[in-house]
Amino acid sequence: MHSHPEAADTLIVGAQLYDGTGAPPVERDVAIRDGRIAAIGNLSNWLAEEVIEANGRALAPGFIDVHTHDDTHVIQSPQMLPKITQGVTTVIVGNCGISASPVSLKGDPPDPMNLLGERDAFQYPTFAAYVEAVNAARPAVNVGALIGHTALRSNQMDRLDRAATAEEIDGMRAQLEEALSNGALGLSSGLAYGSAFSAPTEEVMALAEPLAAAGALYTTHMRTEFDAILDAMDEAYRVGRHAHVPVVISHLKCAGPSNWGRSEEVLKSLEGARRLQPIGCDCYPYNRSSSTLDVKQVTGDIDITITWSEPHPEMAGKLIKEIAAEWCVTQQEAGKRLQPAGAVYHNMSEDDVRRILSHPATMVGSDGLPNDPLPHPRLWGAFPRVLGHYARDAKLLPLEEAVRKMTSLSAHRFGLAQRGEVHIGYHADLVLFDPARVRDAATFENPQQAADGIDAVWVNGVLTYRDGAVTGERAGHFVARGAASKGDAHGAF
Ligand code: ZN
Ligand code: CU
Repeated sequence: MHSHPEAADTLIVGAQLYDGTGAPPVERDVAIRDGRIAAIGNLSNWLAEEVIEANGRALAPGFIDVHTHDDTHVIQSPQMLPKITQGVTTVIVGNCGISASPVSLKGDPPDPMNLLGERDAFQYPTFAAYVEAVNAARPAVNVGALIGHTALRSNQMDRLDRAATAEEIDGMRAQLEEALSNGALGLSSGLAYGSAFSAPTEEVMALAEPLAAAGALYTTHMRTEFDAILDAMDEAYRVGRHAHVPVVISHLKCAGPSNWGRSEEVLKSLEGARRLQPIGCDCYPYNRSSSTLDVKQVTGDIDITITWSEPHPEMAGKLIKEIAAEWCVTQQEAGKRLQPAGAVYHNMSEDDVRRILSHPATMVGSDGLPNDPLPHPRLWGAFPRVLGHYARDAKLLPLEEAVRKMTSLSAHRFGLAQRGEVHIGYHADLVLFDPARVRDAATFENPQQAADGIDAVWVNGVLTYRDGAVTGERAGHFVARGAASKGDAHGAF
């Protein structure tokens, strides 16, 4: 008769709940207590210290950015504005073969490790030291980490333009094992880059062997995303089969005009392999890529925008063909003079981007570059762009499917336990957004802009962003690989 009201720290009332599984939204109230989801349903008999009226806006699990280069950013800029403003509550660092740890540099960081910062940003000779630094910085978002093959190579080898010896592979494996024992999610490679291109498949296969026992995975920025992409995909599958681990193909794309239109073929390869082994991929919702400037890619068949240049910072924002004309040199020669530099490559077709993004195996990852002074807009815009531009406006996919690609799919694949779904007992990483207004504001010309329509973000139950402003609370921390990373009930892959 006298039912006592239950008490929550926070009550979110009247939301359209997108639970992360891909199920259509339902009207629900959600209670948060002690950093966890305490109840879901009609909670009108609950009391709470803070009540937030959702008024029918969308409530979803906080987004998981599976592809980041935020390794040093989470420590140096722990407020993590580019991510928290998008509703991202967890970032996975260490992608593309480059990680901030374990690293002991002998000089300047080799390309593309310089994307993570200059020499003095690399202060973590062990993974344990990195974990400690992350937690000491109290970042606003949770941080999961991969270990970069290129980072390990640079620790163990005197030069990177050759294969590692058996002894060097042993050294790399020992460092990887230290990281896995401290909760690293897996191994990443960046085989397209000069610093890893000389590594034969067998080197990666041998290095990947300790992953399975730890329940970890292998992710790869493949050997090539150009004409030989199918061979590069086969190489990735082979590593996964050898090591008995899941594979994630990073930022899957058909790069270069001669390759445009091949996404159907590429996805067919992926689907064929998925019948035999666990494989997924991530992508960012733009038809231009970005990285350090690779002179081999300056072929004159696509536009390339320079985003930074150490010798010529004044050229940021200009096309390389404009710079070449100004200097009266070939584009190749201009590229050489600009080095080291960063670039945006206009190298994908929109049809391919859409086909890959909407494939059920594809997760969303920003691949944002936080140290770039003129960053590709994916850094600030990737998640709202999928929700607003692609799901709502272009109707490429249902909103609940867009949310799934940013939440439960990502958590299951990477082994982030009790995240990625709005589920009783799970960590209360949540985002409240307006499906009618959500929109990426970042552009190539003006990339450092917060998205519209992200109304509130909670990390581990703590309100971190609300109505366009940070609250000042930073409740994220390092997250270790969870126990349920493989073969869980959800059929992760
Ligand atoms: Zn990459
Ligand atoms: Cu990347």
